[in-house]
Amino acid sequence: MKKYVSELLMIPGPTPVPSQVALAGAQNMMSHRSGPFKKLMLDLTAQLQALLQTNNEVVILSSSGTGGMEAVVSSCFAKGDKVLVATVGNFGKRWVKLAKVYGLDTEVLEYDYGQAVDPSAVKALLANDTEKKIKGVFFQMNETSTAVLNDVEEIAKVVKAHGALVIVDAISGFLASDLKIDEWGLDVVITGSQKAFMLPPGLAVVAVSARAKKAMEASDLPHFYLSLPAALKQAAEGQTPYTPAVSLIYQLSTAVKILTDEGLESILARHERLTQAVRSALRSLGMRLLNENDKTASRAVTAVYPPDGLNADEIRQRMKDDWGITLSNGQDELKGKIFRIGHLGHIDPKDVLAVIACLEIVLSQLGMPGIQWGKGVQAAQNVLARK
Ligand SMILES: Cc1ncc(COP(=O)(O)O)c(C=O)c1O
Repeated sequence: MKKYVSELLMIPGPTPVPSQVALAGAQNMMSHRSGPFKKLMLDLTAQLQALLQTNNEVVILSSSGTGGMEAVVSSCFAKGDKVLVATVGNFGKRWVKLAKVYGLDTEVLEYDYGQAVDPSAVKALLANDTEKKIKGVFFQMNETSTAVLNDVEEIAKVVKAHGALVIVDAISGFLASDLKIDEWGLDVVITGSQKAFMLPPGLAVVAVSARAKKAMEASDLPHFYLSLPAALKQAAEGQTPYTPAVSLIYQLSTAVKILTDEGLESILARHERLTQAVRSALRSLGMRLLNENDKTASRAVTAVYPPDGLNADEIRQRMKDDWGITLSNGQDELKGKIFRIGHLGHIDPKDVLAVIACLEIVLSQLGMPGIQWGKGVQAAQNVLARK
């Protein structure tokens, strides 16, 4: 006999997809070279600009987020250009790998897991670059692997003062926390469909400043499918260089309407509330967070150590087998040492309450000493009951 449990995906992307968004993907195809599709794309781009708080040009690439990252590296820089990567985890290391693959002279500012980038350290490094050799500074808005939110505004400030391009991977951070592209002067920002957009994976939305466009003129790195200049040229006409993922575009259009109706303020408040509920619940159960700093806490995901004597993988397995709840593993050296609870996108307070309640049962069944059922749930309730 097979036990039936409904599934709840609490990972930091892909997130669950609202049914309206799922159904939007079932619509019949239309010609991507037709007038109606161009109109769809132009309207969608304008709505994306509003959500991204930018007048910069925005392109939609048919690729996962990493495709957006690669497009930026290969389109905005020239062979041998010097760049700086400030990394606080696995996705920061992806910037390093990409920059090296394309032959960039890559300086790395690396932090321990759980720490955020210190803007003053970036400032000090850039101050040494008196010949202004560093052409771009890459970092994550939200480092998903360690549940750390970087201070994008402050980092951007010091980079702008130096003159290098500010390149932000906001794939998991966008909409979970505030991101003011124009006000903060961000040159390239990359987001991905499977995060707070609440879509299946497969699209990267990239916002590009005039300065970044200018830098593209000097780029001599190879790129073809993931060419930002080609995407920008076509996007101005509501087009894409190659056949786009039409179904995902329908879905993005539906999701963006839902998000626009909700409004940015409410979207950000929703993510903040879930974050506080999860952190408060885990702490009240006596669990240790990978990032204990509330200011730099990711509003998309929370990373937590298992209680002493318990195994993180076993906790995740029991959550999945007994309760149908999928949590994330740690990445890299953190694999098996922590687990991560995603709380972005199409996740709401009752999902958080369910996760904490089930986690309490799993922890007690696995032998966590002194655990009191309801303590974590109550802490979450205290946050979630606030208006
Ligand atoms: C911060 C961050 N950067 C980059 C990526 C890579 O995106 P993708 O898996 O869509 O290529 C992810 C995916 O989880 C991410 O969270």
